[in-house]
Amino acid sequence: MALTTLLLCAFSLALLSYGQPEALENHNSSDLLSTCNKIAAAISGSSKVFFPPASEYLFDIEHFSSSSTEASACSVEPGSAEDVGEILRILGSSRTPFAVKGGGHSMNPGFSSTQGVQITMSRFNKTKVNSASGTVDVGAGLTWDQVFATLESTGVNVVGGRIPGIGVAGLTLGGGYSFLSSQYGLTLDNVAGYELVLPNGTVTTVTSEDDDLWFGLRGGLNNFGIVTKFIFKSYSQGNVWGGIRFYSDNQLDAIKEALFKYQQKNDTRAKVDVSLSYSSGQLLCAVLFFYDAPTPSGVYDDFLDIPAIKGNVSTTSFFDFFQSLGPQGTSDNHRVFEDTASVIQYSPAVFDAFVDQINIWGRRLQALDENVALALVLEPFDKDIFSHGTASAYPPDRSHAIFPSSLTFEWSNASLDDTMAFALRNISNSIRAAALADGQDVSHAALYPNYALFGTPLEDMYGGNVERLRKIKAAIDPEDVMGLAGGWKF
Ligand SMILES: *[C@@H]1O[C@H](CO)[C@@H](O)[C@H](O)[C@H]1NC(C)=O
Ligand SMILES: *[C@@H]1O[C@H](CO)[C@@H](O)[C@H](O)[C@H]1NC(C)=O
Ligand SMILES: *[C@@H]1O[C@H](CO)[C@@H](O)[C@H](O)[C@H]1NC(C)=O
Ligand SMILES: *[C@@H]1O[C@H](CO)[C@@H](O)[C@H](O)[C@H]1NC(C)=O
Ligand SMILES: *[C@@H]1O[C@H](CO)[C@@H](O)[C@H](O)[C@H]1NC(C)=O
Ligand SMILES: *[C@@H]1O[C@H](CO)[C@@H](O)[C@H](O)[C@H]1NC(C)=O
Ligand SMILES: *[C@@H]1O[C@H](CO)[C@@H](O)[C@H](O)[C@H]1NC(C)=O
Repeated sequence: MALTTLLLCAFSLALLSYGQPEALENHNSSDLLSTCNKIAAAISGSSKVFFPPASEYLFDIEHFSSSSTEASACSVEPGSAEDVGEILRILGSSRTPFAVKGGGHSMNPGFSSTQGVQITMSRFNKTKVNSASGTVDVGAGLTWDQVFATLESTGVNVVGGRIPGIGVAGLTLGGGYSFLSSQYGLTLDNVAGYELVLPNGTVTTVTSEDDDLWFGLRGGLNNFGIVTKFIFKSYSQGNVWGGIRFYSDNQLDAIKEALFKYQQKNDTRAKVDVSLSYSSGQLLCAVLFFYDAPTPSGVYDDFLDIPAIKGNVSTTSFFDFFQSLGPQGTSDNHRVFEDTASVIQYSPAVFDAFVDQINIWGRRLQALDENVALALVLEPFDKDIFSHGTASAYPPDRSHAIFPSSLTFEWSNASLDDTMAFALRNISNSIRAAALADGQDVSHAALYPNYALFGTPLEDMYGGNVERLRKIKAAIDPEDVMGLAGGWKF
């Protein structure tokens, strides 16, 4: 990416403030500079502070979507948990706004970006298999493709992300829907422990022995400190079957029927994502198939009978399958927002609502920006997906399954941001209305925090857990240090 373009685009974003925690007016640039210098003087040789226009600084502030990139005063790459503690103490006592970036895939501006101090976790980059305990230690700065690359030769796997480029930290701290979730639960259900730097700078380890923090960290994102390492349960992993096939819009009825029948089969080794996309006036359907064995059961027969335009499915290693889904790169002037709707079943009526919505909004938005691209992804899992773990911040109700959907828009003209956010909320509400009309009781179906658009009320994601989460946050962070960082805040 051209460095100047990134900087210009980051600076123009300074005018927006979707997720900004604390007014920056109280922090002139000399205040911020002195905080950066204080940090530089306090940290050990394993950590480093960078200033614009250093290439490390540009890497540190860069996000997948340019609409989530902001120009911070400086960036810091901590190299030890103790240094993260030092940094938090300095930021807390100077009340300096900051952000913590793992993979940088948050589509919400200000959630992992800031105009204050950008902390980038990239130096926490170790993946270590512990055969004796059946666990894998994973550094909080890694992306899932990096983790799977290391695990490929070991014969074990962890319940990780579904798209190359997504970071371990955000996906795990907000929930984590994996190709392996129908078998083993959410990513957060497969954490055995966290190395956590508390808001007051103390380094600690959190396990299931810790009632409140254990509950809060499992879905509560960056409210309780900064996680530097995750310890995941591991599973043995052999070759898998999978790939993507593309279908023209005249196959939508057949896809709808196949998807409905697929959900009745309860095959936990199987995972499909059905993606509807709209760009340049064209509606296209892509189905991502995954099966956790070299050959699938008959679970996909209905899909495979439908003629595809292109695409391939084959038997490969888990890592080769995963890599074939990417790479998800960044590009100049590539704005992306995401929102979500939750359903109990991807029934024919709900499927129709997705198709209607993408057609309505695809046409409308294309008239405003001819480069707009919409993608609505239907993400069914097994009906028992929430039975694999104990009470956690998310999901607030494990008694019955709800399935997320990912609604994303990509465009280039920043003056359309508000229009895009409005349209996404409208689609989310319309899908919910269609599910209700279909007899699905989604009135209290939680929205997935990692997909939800900025401004979503906490109760819509965390339900009846909000009060407990607020109490845990107040007890662990009486000075509200983590409130200086953006994101969903208790
Ligand atoms: C910045 O703010 C501090 C107080 O926070 C003040 O002492 C200082 O003079 C200000 N500097 C500039 C350049 O405005
Ligand atoms: C991990 O981070 C350290 C410190 O930045 C760096 O020296 C090392 O090359 C990184 N390792 C990998 C595998 O990227
Ligand atoms: C599908 O084909 C593409 C291009 O030929 C290739 O890059 C990809 O790895 C293949 N995917 C699978 C799962 O075989
Ligand atoms: C799948 O689960 C549903 C709900 O429990 C049940 O009605 C259905 O019979 C199951 N299907 C199969 C093939 O076991
Ligand atoms: C961006 O959108 C605004 C408002 O719709 C419009 O006035 C402007 O011409 C657009 N800019 C570009 C480069 O298309
Ligand atoms: C979506 O927006 C349209 C106007 O464009 C409005 O008529 C409709 O009520 C909205 N639907 C929902 C569910 O918010
Ligand atoms: C930091 O916070 C933890 C948890 O509230 C507390 O146990 C510990 O005593 C605090 N440490 C310091 C140095 O204040």
